[in-house]
Amino acid sequence: MPRAAITGTGFWVPEQVVTNRDLEGMMDTSDAWIVERSGIRERRWLRLDPDGYTEITGAEMGARAARMAIEDAGIEPGDIDLVIYATVNPDCFFPGNGVFMEDLLGLDTTGALDIRNQCTGFVYGLAAADGFIQAGTARTVLLVCGEVQSTGLDRSTAGRDLAVLFGDGAGAVVIGEGQGDRGVLASVLHSQGRFARELWAEIPVGNLKGRWTDAMLEEGRQYPRMNGQMVFKHATRRFCEAVTEVLAKGGATVDDVALVIPHQANQRITDAVGQRLGLGPERVFSNIAKYGNTTAASIPIALAEAVREGRLQRGDLLVTVAFGSGFTWGANLVRW
Ligand code: UT7
Repeated sequence: MPRAAITGTGFWVPEQVVTNRDLEGMMDTSDAWIVERSGIRERRWLRLDPDGYTEITGAEMGARAARMAIEDAGIEPGDIDLVIYATVNPDCFFPGNGVFMEDLLGLDTTGALDIRNQCTGFVYGLAAADGFIQAGTARTVLLVCGEVQSTGLDRSTAGRDLAVLFGDGAGAVVIGEGQGDRGVLASVLHSQGRFARELWAEIPVGNLKGRWTDAMLEEGRQYPRMNGQMVFKHATRRFCEAVTEVLAKGGATVDDVALVIPHQANQRITDAVGQRLGLGPERVFSNIAKYGNTTAASIPIALAEAVREGRLQRGDLLVTVAFGSGFTWGANLVRW
């Protein structure tokens, strides 16, 4: 049975850098607070036109990351036989961004699957791609994860707890049939829906006539809301559990791991996970200082950077791990 291997990586982030100092001009916050609590120094936000529309759409952003991954893999778009798109911020309520990606890449009738797993989108997407490849349903899968967060944030002081954390960006991987021992060795996937309302965006409300009310908008219920401290505690615990579980499932130990790429949620979470697992900073990748939290996109952006920085060599063991809204969490163990 073929195993799924990552054969190409790519990413794209907007040109506009928004520093913590820039945010100080929008809301009551400070560079010191943001750096101390999250490790974030700057993030990228798409530029807005005078009508408030972003310079490019989320799917167009994803397509830029995808083209880089396709070139890196040495394939043509026509070689892709399934597109998987993970985002919590689709360009419209429906259809999902997968079909826009299919069209932007000039494909013709290629299957497109959308994943709504928030920060865990990449981990679920890679596990799904592995399943499709093992089952023979697909031979080459394009997994794109992209987020336009900036348009959905409350940039006033009322929304400062979330607005300072999130950035825009996209990452992509091409996944093909692995040769030899290369590829996804194991994946673990979890969720706990009883915590769905601890980190969520309520609007548009599917079971409400008209999907929202003026009163809801006045209360700011269209913006994401988070119980930060609770999410923090669960995240730290679940990150560690997922790494331990996926290593056991794949028959490996922490000592065997060359690199962990965690979802970039908070530098304090990343540090705590590294400490608890006994992994030094050289084995836990971090780029949150420059991009903030890009939700589903954070792992594939980090992966593309890690590869280009020479942090992964053929044969290395890689763990990707995420936790986020849902709650959802999980991990993948990959022989690079
Ligand atoms: O990607 C999905 C997973 N997401 C996460 O894992 C995020 C998890 N949570 C966190 O990362 C942290 O909880 C935050 C970074 C969101 C917040 O850090 P914290 O240390 O938990 O701060 P806090 O929420 O306890 O707030 C401390 C204080 C409060 O003021 P008072 O009540 O002590 O007077 C907040 O109002 O900081 C205030 N505050 C801010 N101050 C300046 C909240 N946001 C800000 C801000 N600037 N942006």
